Formats: sequence, structure tokens, C-alpha cells
Amino acid sequence: MLRSALLNVMIKAAHKAGRALKRDFGEVEHLQVSLKGPANFVCAADRRAEEILCQELARARPGYGFVGEEGGRREGTDKTHTFIVDPLDGTSNFLHGIPHFAISIALDREGTIVAGVVYNPANDELYTAERGKGAFLNDQRLRVAARKRLADAVVTCGLPHLGRGDLALGLKELACVQGKVAGLRRFGAASLDLAWVAAGRFDAYWERNLSPWDIAAGLILVREAGGYVTDLDGGENPVATGDVIAGNETIHRELLRLLQEAGKT
Ligand code: IPD
Ligand code: CA
Ligand code: CA
Repeated sequence: MLRSALLNVMIKAAHKAGRALKRDFGEVEHLQVSLKGPANFVCAADRRAEEILCQELARARPGYGFVGEEGGRREGTDKTHTFIVDPLDGTSNFLHGIPHFAISIALDREGTIVAGVVYNPANDELYTAERGKGAFLNDQRLRVAARKRLADAVVTCGLPHLGRGDLALGLKELACVQGKVAGLRRFGAASLDLAWVAAGRFDAYWERNLSPWDIAAGLILVREAGGYVTDLDGGENPVATGDVIAGNETIHRELLRLLQEAGKT
């Protein structure tokens, strides 16, 4: 598996920020936490990780732009390349000592995501993908699951949070899907939800009201693992709309139809 120099830059940055996150995770009860909005936490660990990522990526690619969840934004001299970064995806899990969170780094080249890294430092799982070169978990090549029936599928989702999103619609979709699938999950980190679809652990995933840094890297992981990722109208650019559905061709189509029906009830 030949990784490009660029992907190695992104992996090196993720590992460095991952060491800091892992240290903070061990002391999570001592971390200073503040609220960005209802049930929307940010802690010193988020900010520290974003600073490390911004510095590491700027050192290796000084001309590239940078967009980070915690406010890091840097206009690059090279207007065609921008890193889209979530320094800690799954902050609520992190703050509750749940080892299911990740660093997500995507590279946008003129509006197309061409590389992605999702790294969970708690279990050292490194998901990587480059356009046309496949998706990997550590060194193992990934393929989305091959199940064809919703009744055999384990599906993960994201639900509207306290004071955010359309809870009534979310509950309608949940009720509609719950009765048709083998299992439904809510794991609390969008980037890992997509990475686990790419790894064939989940058969599908859907969520609304996400930000570009939540899904940009996960999107190329699923596509390079042979899966389908669209928005909830079937559109090709979920990073722009913030609504996402992912799975293999059949399960993606069947779940999308089910969710659209739920919206009409
Ligand atoms: C959140 C997680 C969560 C999703 C939220 C995101 P954060 O990201 O990905 O699973 O449901 O919408 O905001 O805040 O932990 O980086
Ligand atoms: Ca996030
Ligand atoms: Ca975050």
C-alpha cells in the first residue's frame, strides 16, 4: 500500500494530536469544559488538538488553507487546497470517558475531497483514503459490507441534539427504520460512523445537520471502499448540505427510500 507524501503529512499530524488527546483523555475529569450551545461542549483538549494539527499541517504545506471546527481558519496562498479539520469528533463521548472519538482531517482540492484521515487514538485505529487509491484501516484494505437486505442490516444514525435540529422528524425516521432493520445504533461520532461503514462494521448510516468537518474525511473513506454517500435528497454533495446517508448501493437506496417515506408521514 503506497501512501502519498501528502497523506503521510496528514497521518503524522493526526498521530501527534492523537498523543495529546490520549493524554487528556486519561485526565478527562480535570479538563476545563465550556458550552458552545445546548449539549454542545468544547474542552481544552479540542483546542489543543486543533492547534497541533494547524501547526503540523502548516509546517508541511505552508500554502494550503485550513478550516477547523474550533475556529482555526487560515487562508492559504494556494487557493486550490484546504484542510478541513475536526480535532475531536465525539466530544461528548470523550468527556464521559467513552473511548469512541476521533481526529478527522480531509483535504479539499477545488471543491473535491481527495484525501481523508480518521484516527481514534483510544484504540489506535487509523482510517485513510486517497482518491482512486482505496481505503484502509491501518494497513488492511477496506470494502463496505455486501448485505443486500435491510432486514439483515445494522444501521447507525445521528439524532437531533438538545435544542438543535428537527426532533420530530428524527423520531419519525427512527420509528420507521427501527421496524425494518436487524439493529439500530447511535455511537456519537459522525466521522467514525462513516469509517465503520467503510469497514463493513455498519451496513449504513444517516444523519442531518452536520458540519463539513464532521463528514468530509469519512465521505472519501466510504467512496474508496466501494460505498455510496449522498445527501438525503440523493444529491452528490453532503458536505454542502450537512445531511448524509451512506451504505452499499442496495442498502443506501433502500434506506433512502424509507427515510423519504418517513418524511411524508
Ligand atoms: C458531533 C458528533 C455527533 C454528531 C454531532 C456532531 P462533535 O461532533 O459527530 O455524533 O451527532 O452532530 O456535532 O461536536 O463531537 O465534534
Ligand atoms: Ca464533529
Ligand atoms: Ca469536534
